[in-house]
Amino acid sequence: MDSKVTQLRHQAETEIAAVTTQQQLEEFRIKFLSRKGLIASLFDALRSVKPSEKPALGRLLNELRAHTQGLYDHKAASLESVPKRRTPMDLTLPGRRSYLGSKHPLSQTLDEIKSIFVSMGFGIADGPEIEDDYHNFEALNFPPNHPARDTQDTFFLSDKNALLRTHTSPVQIRVMEKHPPPVRIIMPGRVYRNEAISSRSYCVFYQVEGLFVDRGVTFSDLKGTLVSFIKQFYGSGLKYKFRPTFFPFTEPSADIYITCFVCGGKGCKLCKQNGWLEILGCGMVDPNVFRYVGYDAEKYTGYAFGMGVDRIALLRYGIDDIRLFYENDVRFLNQF
Ligand code: PHE
Repeated sequence: MDSKVTQLRHQAETEIAAVTTQQQLEEFRIKFLSRKGLIASLFDALRSVKPSEKPALGRLLNELRAHTQGLYDHKAASLESVPKRRTPMDLTLPGRRSYLGSKHPLSQTLDEIKSIFVSMGFGIADGPEIEDDYHNFEALNFPPNHPARDTQDTFFLSDKNALLRTHTSPVQIRVMEKHPPPVRIIMPGRVYRNEAISSRSYCVFYQVEGLFVDRGVTFSDLKGTLVSFIKQFYGSGLKYKFRPTFFPFTEPSADIYITCFVCGGKGCKLCKQNGWLEILGCGMVDPNVFRYVGYDAEKYTGYAFGMGVDRIALLRYGIDDIRLFYENDVRFLNQF
């Protein structure tokens, strides 16, 4: 009997060492520790030994059972503490880099334009992108059916009177309706035109509008302010010229050109071989516009101007496709 106990003890020790799963552990328990297990059967055999040998053998069996139970408990604890993750953590992996965003090139350009005009005493105003015919056209002296409306490629909304503003000039009307003169503001914002989309033109773009109305404002004030802007923004060495043009809401009107900064005026693809780039439309506010907003056209005069921000940003960053501004591809935006 003694040798059987020793043999079972060794057997339990070898078998528990091979256990690696909960199922094997359970099989071990049934085989050794259950009521019909190997140890229990030794206890059964105890009945048939001599009474004088019983106490010593009983102690030996109790010890075996406690030892085997100990083996079982220890294994159970170690199986439970095995971590759940299948792949071990790799502490040698480099950390994740965090990325810092940057300002969109259009915002950077706009900010710079704004800061120049603010330093010259202009305030900033804005207005709705969904406009009505009155503010986008009529009050700006585009009579109904006037051919100048055709130049604006308007997106009309299903409500007959609603449209996406084609320029920032309606903000002039909204500001003058609310505030008596004098006004000196710029109005940056997004405008929409139903044009064929290409690398040079998109259905949405940014403009900055300007308006100065007071007693005695003249064309030379316009010239002084805009030339000062051009010199600060583009550099003082550039040549510029004013060329007469037509806008319904200004009279007289002019387009401002600067020497092409790619070719220096020699002629290249960008300036279409003529050496000049058009950067701005401007003029003296037409007295008819003052009548629409209730300003006294006998007492007040003013000038207005408008420029496209996208074109300026394209030129200054050397970007060849305007659509990149609106696709928000991080590979593009990362570069600014
Ligand atoms: N609104 C004109 C345009 O979109 C630009 C402009 C603004 C011209 C103000 C003169 C004065 O083309």
